[in-house]
Amino acid sequence: MSKIIHILFVADIVGQPGITITEKLLPSLKQKYHIEFCIANGENASGGKGISDKIVRHLKSLGVDVITSGNHIWDRKDSSQVLNNHRYLLRPLNYPASTPGYGSIVFVTANQTKIGVVNLQGRTFMQPLDDPFTVGLREIQRINKDTKISIVDFHAEASAEKATLGWYLDGKVSAVIGTHTHVQTADERILPNGTAYITDVGMTGPFDSVIGMKKEIAIHRFLHQTPQKYEIAKDNLHLCAVVISVEQETGKAVDIERIIIP
Ligand SMILES: [Fe+2]
Ligand SMILES: [Fe+2]
Repeated sequence: MSKIIHILFVADIVGQPGITITEKLLPSLKQKYHIEFCIANGENASGGKGISDKIVRHLKSLGVDVITSGNHIWDRKDSSQVLNNHRYLLRPLNYPASTPGYGSIVFVTANQTKIGVVNLQGRTFMQPLDDPFTVGLREIQRINKDTKISIVDFHAEASAEKATLGWYLDGKVSAVIGTHTHVQTADERILPNGTAYITDVGMTGPFDSVIGMKKEIAIHRFLHQTPQKYEIAKDNLHLCAVVISVEQETGKAVDIERIIIP
């Protein structure tokens, strides 16, 4: 029987509360699930807006191998520099080609397993980037020459766009993991041709909030329809993730387990 590789995907880490619960839970999670490779979405790690050089290094030291991102990666002034400093920090691939940073990587684990990661961003209710379907498939075909194991972080707003990409890539990648909405969906499954799928893996951060931000501020914004600066909430920390089990020889997923702690 082919060896099974266990991959942990940690949902959008929001601010210091998200980092605090990641520090607390990641080592035991990695041990419990025999994790060989760990991805985390870090687009909100620096106070909800982007990621700093220091946090990239810190997440790496905690055992995150590849950090994916999304629309918020550009919120910091030094985002280009941070992206250029760390090859394992990704931004969505389908931004214009001249945009700083990389949208994919083939990572080699300590056991010498090659795992491709592709970060894509949706276009429904979001910026009009290049077509994530075409750009994504082309990149996956390129990566497949190197390894059959590949994970897609699809950072998108609309469930329908995410589900469509899942079906489009079924059998071509090991997993399509949705991010960006910060609300975990309960639709994890293995699609018929061996791709693990979930519409959204959720959020790692404060749950007494509106997608990580203070609820009072969100209520004020919706009531008054006037701008008000968002602040990170603090209470009721949760970690959301999925563990994907993949057959090393074929790159096909055999299991996806959804995690929400506590
Ligand atoms: Fe996010
Ligand atoms: Fe986002």
